[in-house]
Amino acid sequence: MLEFDLILLKPSDVKDEWQEWFDSEHTQYYTRGGRRIELQELRDSIQKGIDTGETFTFGILDKGNQKIIGTAKLGPIDKVHGLADLAVLIGDKKYLGKGLASQLIKLASDFAFEKHSVRKLHSGILEHNVPSIKAYTKAGWIVEAVLSKHYNNNGTLQDWLIISKFNPRFHSNEVSTTHQVSLDSYFSSK
Ligand SMILES: CC(C)(COP(=O)(O)OP(=O)(O)OC[C@H]1O[C@@H](n2cnc3c(N)ncnc32)[C@H](O)[C@@H]1OP(=O)(O)O)[C@@H](O)C(=O)NCCC(=O)NCCS
Repeated sequence: MLEFDLILLKPSDVKDEWQEWFDSEHTQYYTRGGRRIELQELRDSIQKGIDTGETFTFGILDKGNQKIIGTAKLGPIDKVHGLADLAVLIGDKKYLGKGLASQLIKLASDFAFEKHSVRKLHSGILEHNVPSIKAYTKAGWIVEAVLSKHYNNNGTLQDWLIISKFNPRFHSNEVSTTHQVSLDSYFSSK
């Protein structure tokens, strides 16, 4: 199993070669509208997170070769409600399909729960982003709701799956199971 670490990124850590990540087919659902991300946008977002202290952008570091192969962005953390978003991106295609994403989502979720006392993590996934739906649910997240034909991704209307994970320190397991959408029923109705 691949060993990796999460390291907090500075804008100067972003390498020009990472543009390939955002130009690759596999990241087409990372932005809701399929918009291409420019590296300057990533650098600005990292800096903004540092300035506000509300968002943390990590690099996924392969411990074997010390290479950063993707990112995990936690935040903004809303301290009033105890909420935060979590988005992961495996940029380097060589690392896809190895089950890395679910391990990574677990690690970043635990970091949010333990170090920042986030009460509930949430995010959203386009319906065609099946690897992402599988990776988050394998990491213990649930689909709470589906917004039908919600986003226009490069000309295709797609459902938006609202996903979340409750911090067990604040919530019983029951809250995570009583109202989740069944993915089997969802996909079989498609
Ligand atoms: C989403 C992402 C993180 C998944 O990373 P990953 O580690 O390569 O995930 P895997 O390839 O292990 O796939 C996860 C699961 O989806 C399955 N899968 C992959 N492609 C699939 C497809 N086209 N149809 C059905 N299942 C698929 C895999 O078999 C795997 O299932 P398993 O856990 O039962 O074995 C990665 O594709 C990525 O970074 N995408 C771009 C950024 C992004 O979209 N992030 C999510 C934003 S919400």
